Amino acid sequence: MIDNLDYSEDKTYISPKDLFNQILSKASSIFKNKEVLLNDYIPNEIHFRNKEMTQLTTALSPILLGNNSVNVFIFGFSGTGKTLVTRKVVNDLLEIGKQNNDNISCIIMNCRLDNINTEYRLITNLAKIFGAKLPDTGLSLAKVYDKFFDSLNMNNKKDLKLVLVLDEIDYLILKDPLFLYNLSRIKEKYDKLYLSLVGISNILNLKSRIEPKVISSLNPVEIVFSSYSADEIKGILEERVKLAFNEGVVAEGVVSKIAAISAQEHGDVRRAINLLRLSGELAQRKGESHISLEDVDLAYKESEKNIIEETIHTLAPQSKLVLLAILNIIEKKKSDTIFSGEIYDEYIKLANKFGYRELTFRRVSDLIYELDYNSLIRIQLKSRGRYGRSREVGLGFSKEVVPRLEDIIKNDLNKNL
Ligand SMILES: Nc1ncnc2c1ncn2[C@@H]1O[C@H](COP(=O)(O)OP(=O)(O)O)[C@@H](O)[C@H]1O
Ligand SMILES: [Mg+2]
Repeated sequence: MIDNLDYSEDKTYISPKDLFNQILSKASSIFKNKEVLLNDYIPNEIHFRNKEMTQLTTALSPILLGNNSVNVFIFGFSGTGKTLVTRKVVNDLLEIGKQNNDNISCIIMNCRLDNINTEYRLITNLAKIFGAKLPDTGLSLAKVYDKFFDSLNMNNKKDLKLVLVLDEIDYLILKDPLFLYNLSRIKEKYDKLYLSLVGISNILNLKSRIEPKVISSLNPVEIVFSSYSADEIKGILEERVKLAFNEGVVAEGVVSKIAAISAQEHGDVRRAINLLRLSGELAQRKGESHISLEDVDLAYKESEKNIIEETIHTLAPQSKLVLLAILNIIEKKKSDTIFSGEIYDEYIKLANKFGYRELTFRRVSDLIYELDYNSLIRIQLKSRGRYGRSREVGLGFSKEVVPRLEDIIKNDLNKNL
């Protein structure tokens, strides 16, 4: 940043204080209010989600109309406004409920971030929120349910309508698929509770992972959040630009470019806003007074690298083993793609080497698809002449980073992450 400032010996003296001020004023010439570019910022108005907002509002309205429970599943790719819209609708529901003297409570949990990966953890957390004192382990699930109901009894004279929002519910469902069944029948255990579940998922085909009897018991309303178009992303970004940056810092071309990049990545507004912030930070570091298209390019490359590393850290150990097997084979063969049939043997070797249980061929196959879903690899169906068809697996990132990623994975596996 100081590169552009005059601090060379042969010029007139400049005091540290003046230099600090120069640096500060350069820095502040880019951002007006960077906070509005952070992930948890809630915009005043939500545009381009009218359909979804209306669907969710309508779906939840029976809760206000009587002692009713409703269940809703929300699906959509990441960054399509699911969390934002749900928070807004639920807030308004609570407000109207209060005006009507309705006993409505709402709890929002993020299963991935709050590490809720079993029914036990879920109910323990709920009980604690309602004031129960519980040891972290040692109780049976039935006992934890009892504690939860006791805590509800203490806190509520009337029947309680509880809206439970489980964000990133895939995380919990993939690990403990039966908890939904118990939740759907909770009324049989405690008849003063009207539980409505709102499950939010990034995985579009999540329902195929849930048993039909559970689905029919929940009978959820399903709402799909479509991906934003480039124009819609542009509209959302322009709103943020006005709040976040000083005038003249962000040229129109910059917003269009970021919107176009994001639209290609299934309209992920979170990444678009991130890229806008990173581009601004880069321009600031370089001591520029506005963001250039090159800044966007550079910031994009940088963020790609970080996202890949972050994604890898969040994978389960078994998925890490599968990815490491793929990376090893690609390194060994010095080729860009491999056949999926080659992966299993290498995976078994690695599972033994790092001391993990061996999964079946089928499960490993599922994990390969999940890696594709996370954009870490790309699967293509290829014809192999008379040998029939085979799946070809390539990388979702450039080959240069393979050695570094191998190190990261090995490190995590040794630490049992
Ligand atoms: N229609 C919109 N208007 C303004 N900001 C939005 C809109 N949709 C999403 N965002 C912003 O994009 C980011 C991602 O949205 P979020 O609701 O967290 O996505 P999801 O839960 O679908 O992954 C958040 O910072 C959110 O404020
Ligand atoms: Mg979300």
